[in-house]
Amino acid sequence: KQDDDQLIIDAGQKQFGATTCSSCGMVYSADNPEDNFQHTQFHQRFLDSIKFVGWKKERVVAEFWDGKILLVMPDDPKYAIKKAEDVRRVADNELGFQQVALSRPTQAKTYLFINTERLVVGCLVAEPIRQAYRVLEQPDRLKDMTKDDFMERHRAWCCSTVPERALCGISRIWVFSLARRQGIATRMLDTVRSTFMYGSPLTKEEIAFSDPTPDGKLFATKYCNT
Ligand code: ACO
Ligand code: ZN
Repeated sequence: KQDDDQLIIDAGQKQFGATTCSSCGMVYSADNPEDNFQHTQFHQRFLDSIKFVGWKKERVVAEFWDGKILLVMPDDPKYAIKKAEDVRRVADNELGFQQVALSRPTQAKTYLFINTERLVVGCLVAEPIRQAYRVLEQPDRLKDMTKDDFMERHRAWCCSTVPERALCGISRIWVFSLARRQGIATRMLDTVRSTFMYGSPLTKEEIAFSDPTPDGKLFATKYCNT
């Protein structure tokens, strides 16, 4: 699996003389000093954002051999809120979201997956909702598109016009590029379902993904069918 990922990254690097950093995701030209400088700065800021030094009070909601999941609530201490925001900004940047604001900041719950190297490698923002529109099966023509069509694919999902009952909306889900396909997103969602509403675990039907990306759609389809 690691090899597959590596192949994809190498293929990306050959294009247009540009390099894609496999950690921070920045595309830059390695021969250009100005670009290199920009990348070094962006890379450092990225690492600072996902670095986790440990908190006095941590709300640990799940523990695994390769990490743990912390829950950050709107009324938590400043240092916790700040870290949640920093990681969310990293995720938003990768998702191409312009606005960092949440629709209901006072009710949003942020789940952070911390790995054993003390990095925040996963971030999930969940908000209470009442209804959602089911994403319909994608037309076949969309399935054959390449990565270049990303922007076009991005908003191409067709949604049903009939609202359905849902309780928990996933407004962001992001996993560090070097930590993907290790079940981190799956474990974060399982944890959301068991902890989002006190005393009543949610079914897969009661959670909804807002505006999924192609990666998000592939993941959500797999998660909801298993
Ligand atoms: N392509 C195909 N299948 C996938 C992909 C993918 N890119 N990602 C996940 N899956 C499926 C697989 O079947 C996988 O199981 P497998 O690895 O045994 O084959 C299964 O989903 C479970 O995947 P996880 O390992 O739990 O998912 P991961 O931790 O890699 O995180 C995520 C998935 C969050 C989509 C990650 O790829 C990511 O952060 N992408 C960039 C940001 C993004 O697009 N986020 C979704 C935005 S939508 C929203 O925020 C509402
Ligand atoms: Zn980088």
